[in-house]
Amino acid sequence: SAHLLSVDNLSRDYVDHLFHVTRRMEPIAQRQKITRVLEGAVLGNLFFEASTRTRMSFHSAFSRLGGSVCDTTGFTFSSMAKGESLYDTSRVISGYVDAIVMRHPDLGSVAEFAAATHVPVINGGDGPGEHPSQALLDLYTINKEFERIGKALPGAHLLLTGDLKYGRTVHSLLKLLALYPPMQITLVSPPGLEMPFELIDRAENAGHRVQQRDTLQADYSDVDVVYATRIQKERFTQEMVEGFSLSSDFSVDRAFLDQRCSTHTIAMHPLPRDSRPGANDLNVDLNGDPRLAIFRQTDNGIPVRMAIFATLMGVEDTFDRNLRDVGW
Ligand code: CP
Repeated sequence: SAHLLSVDNLSRDYVDHLFHVTRRMEPIAQRQKITRVLEGAVLGNLFFEASTRTRMSFHSAFSRLGGSVCDTTGFTFSSMAKGESLYDTSRVISGYVDAIVMRHPDLGSVAEFAAATHVPVINGGDGPGEHPSQALLDLYTINKEFERIGKALPGAHLLLTGDLKYGRTVHSLLKLLALYPPMQITLVSPPGLEMPFELIDRAENAGHRVQQRDTLQADYSDVDVVYATRIQKERFTQEMVEGFSLSSDFSVDRAFLDQRCSTHTIAMHPLPRDSRPGANDLNVDLNGDPRLAIFRQTDNGIPVRMAIFATLMGVEDTFDRNLRDVGW
């Protein structure tokens, strides 16, 4: 089966094709048209770690293609709570469903699960590893935002900031950007939360100019996209939790965009952003600002995930043959 486990397995041709299918999915995602192309198909949506967007948007995307969804949320609601292995769970569930989306706290666990099944498996996040569907919707969003403002991806300047060590969305995004012509990529993280070296190396080998900095208090007026991430404290050791305090200098807020960036700079974040006191990954003072693209990102997640299902399940050439207008 074709799986979507890591950006490592994606080619530029596949991504271009996926985005073409995504465009054709948009009228369905926007509830202007209806298709039943996956009628009778069942998705297993297996989430062993908290999620709002990935879990619900994959569920919604599969339903909008006419399929139905079985889900299990958390270890306590599956027989893994009784000690069942990933292998047995995978063999059993692949007899019940036609595709699987899985999130799990352990690095490599989704690939281990996929090795035991004959249905397509999509990695919805494996611990600090990867989150390929998020990177695809992020890049789709960047392309759409650039189209709107008349900007090209080659030569663009992207600033990735926050927890670049544990943030799996930025790992997948940096790998995905390596498929594209040279850009400038600036990485800004608090000490100890830097992007893994091998991912920087790969981006540089792809021709990108990568710069690492430890502060947002600088001139970023030529930055086109600021991509902020949440500090992933749930992945810290106890020692790191006790020793860590984040200075407000790392806050992406209205003052940062106004004073350090330009009027065209787009602010993105995979979400969730942390709204608790002391957290400052992406300030709510940007709500309502047209530069804030976070809810355009979440909206784009539906057609991108519909296109992922259509390409993995082989219906990308047939889904729009019998589209009907929405009657409600
Ligand atoms: N962006 C993302 O993966 O969000 P959830 O954790 O809510 O799925």
